[in-house]
Amino acid sequence: MKPLLSLEGLRAGYDDSVVLEDVSLTVNEGEVVALLGANGSGKTTTMRAVTGLIRPFDGKITFADQDLLAVEPHKRVDLGIALCPEGRQVFPNISVEENLFLGSFCPRSRPSRKASLESVYTLFPKLAERRMQKAGLMSGGEQQMLAVGRSLMSKPRMLLLDEPSLGLSPKMVQVLFGAIAQVAKSGISILLVEQNAQAAFAVAKRGYAIAMGRVTASGSIAELTKSGALQSSFLGSHNPSSNA
Ligand SMILES: Nc1ncnc2c1ncn2[C@@H]1O[C@H](COP(=O)(O)OP(=O)(O)OP(=O)(O)O)[C@@H](O)[C@H]1O
Ligand SMILES: [Mg+2]
Repeated sequence: MKPLLSLEGLRAGYDDSVVLEDVSLTVNEGEVVALLGANGSGKTTTMRAVTGLIRPFDGKITFADQDLLAVEPHKRVDLGIALCPEGRQVFPNISVEENLFLGSFCPRSRPSRKASLESVYTLFPKLAERRMQKAGLMSGGEQQMLAVGRSLMSKPRMLLLDEPSLGLSPKMVQVLFGAIAQVAKSGISILLVEQNAQAAFAVAKRGYAIAMGRVTASGSIAELTKSGALQSSFLGSHNPSSNA
């Protein structure tokens, strides 16, 4: 398999505080990979480094054989990287459809925005039903669908999904992850940040556990469970004996 996104020895944080000590991971072309860890372990910070919201102190990020850190953040969307952010961040006072169109402003996606809209509506029929409704009036689950749909409007090669299951009912998590599986089937590669390991491994074959800014283990859910990395990452403690 060919790597699409690679992080090597990433060290990153905010001002002078180091959050990611050493993060290396790979997402291959067409693959769904889970990044699992407790609150504050550095999952969102990892995503921010990929999208360019923060500049790493050290390390390397490669996307489609290009040095991503040499690409300005606003141009990374045009390479095919889309983020579905933590907490959804839909615009509450505009309609569902207007929210979706906001996801397709880059040159890569603009010409095909009508077709993208239709495919998002096919994936999430609920959004089609509510297309003219203000986004803020939708349920939490519907807003999460909207956030995923908006990120797909940029025609990504790689989708970064930050905790899509957060605050949703088990039923809604099932519906949403069914849709994520369909997105993966269409060939889009996915880096899926989750605290819900069960939900993540419904779509990911492989994952990484992160604790205190370090990758502590990688592999299948069985391998991660066996190594104890999931337990230690969720307790927020770094267990060097579980290094992969
Ligand atoms: N903008 C910021 N400025 C300073 N510190 C930050 C900022 N954002 C996050 N941090 C700190 O970085 C650390 C990692 O945060 P991050 O948001 O990456 O964790 P996370 O794994 O996504 O957690 P969660 O599961 O709660 O979303 C935390 O200690 C947090 O307080
Ligand atoms: Mg987070």
